[in-house]
Amino acid sequence: MRFLNLFRTTAFRLALIYLLLFAASAFALIAFIYWNTAGFMAAQTDETINAEIQGLREQYGASGLPGLRQVVIERSSVARGGLYLLANSDQSRIAGNLDRWPDAPTGQGGWVDFTYDRPSLSGSDRRSARARHLELLGGFQLLVGRDVHERREIEDRIESALFWSACITVGLGLIGGLLMSRNVTRRLDVINETTRDIIDGDLNRRVPLSGSNDEFDELATNLNDMLDQIGSLMAGMSEVADNIAHDLRTPLNRLRSRLEVTLMKPASELEYREALEGAIAESDQLISTFNSLLLIARAETGQARENFEELELKSVLTDVVELYEPLAEAKRITLKTSASQAAPINGDRGLISQMLANLIDNAIKYTPEDGMVTVSIRRTGRHAVVEVRDTGAGIPQAEREHVLRRFVRLEASRNEPGSGLGLSLVAAVARLHDAEITLGDAKPGLIATLRFHLKD
Ligand SMILES: Nc1ncnc2c1ncn2[C@@H]1O[C@H](COP(=O)(O)OP(=O)(O)OP(=O)(O)O)[C@@H](O)[C@H]1O
Ligand SMILES: [Mg+2]
Repeated sequence: MRFLNLFRTTAFRLALIYLLLFAASAFALIAFIYWNTAGFMAAQTDETINAEIQGLREQYGASGLPGLRQVVIERSSVARGGLYLLANSDQSRIAGNLDRWPDAPTGQGGWVDFTYDRPSLSGSDRRSARARHLELLGGFQLLVGRDVHERREIEDRIESALFWSACITVGLGLIGGLLMSRNVTRRLDVINETTRDIIDGDLNRRVPLSGSNDEFDELATNLNDMLDQIGSLMAGMSEVADNIAHDLRTPLNRLRSRLEVTLMKPASELEYREALEGAIAESDQLISTFNSLLLIARAETGQARENFEELELKSVLTDVVELYEPLAEAKRITLKTSASQAAPINGDRGLISQMLANLIDNAIKYTPEDGMVTVSIRRTGRHAVVEVRDTGAGIPQAEREHVLRRFVRLEASRNEPGSGLGLSLVAAVARLHDAEITLGDAKPGLIATLRFHLKD
């Protein structure tokens, strides 16, 4: 059954079409050459016979039956492959080297193809001949022909060689087609098997490579890369789901018990108002956490790439800085911007604004009063580098990787509001834009550096 399936493969069909085209053109060429040469040889024989018959007819006209008979006898005695028979009207032999009139029917133009017996060492040979029949005045019959036995034999051999080479070509072509399609099918079977296993739930399966670096290996590599990518996206999504489950439950419970406690004993309007304001503040915090999680998920799935546009990093940054001026002022923090060069990049305007806002927000939040926050953009080669530097406590070297994860907040900043998602969004947006984020020591303070690719 599997063997029969091979016939239905595309590879086999292609091999078959190629074989048919190849065989057809090869045979057309050989047949053309064969029929041209065979036809030429046949035409030459006929021409010789015609010329001879013309000569004999003239001989008959000039010297009558005795003269013709004499010539026929003379020519018959010379063994040159010529066949002659002069006969009466009842086809009984008068002279010639054929002993009887052939049985074969006379065709158009008086041509007869027949066999005759030629004496040989072993008795007699049956041989092929072709002759032309001429009826002379007085009812006499003349047959002039040639022995074409060798020629016919050569033709037969060529024909059977043609037949066998056709069989061998088709046979080899079929075997080649089957081997080729079996090879292709085998490789595809492996890919199909793996994908079926993955569909059935074994998500860790990968397509094996043959090591030949051919197009199948390329396909397998691409499939494997795609599976890895899907795997990491799924892991990201399930991490978000876990985070929501674990980290949002606490504030929700807190909110609920706060409202419950307020209801437990009678309270004044002012107390109710305070409790409700507290609940609103807590809900706002929850909503902003949700929004951050959704933004991170959007950045991580790569969906946001659809919104990429050409944007000027400098103007985005200036807008964000402007928004944070009142906050900085309230803490008497000097907010300085230095952006001398234009820095065009490709990106999602909303996400980039949010990422810059998160960095500036952190810088202001974690810098004590009277401090300084400096934001700058510069170009280095093919990159646009954004730096946000503050004069706060900074982040210890050992924690700099860790704070990029979701919900991570350092002990030192527990008394500041926040959900620990700001830097994870920065990291996710950086990844989405193929940008690099590094946290360093500003001595004192933190220096956050973003390195974007400039638009070509
Ligand atoms: N500029 C900074 N200086 C000192 N510590 C910082 C600075 N930026 C971030 N951190 C530390 O890294 C932690 C994670 O920062 P992140 O921005 O992710 O969360 P958050 O600021 O606590 O909350 P959110 O940004 O979600 O409101 C912070 O809690 C803080 O401990
Ligand atoms: Mg933050």
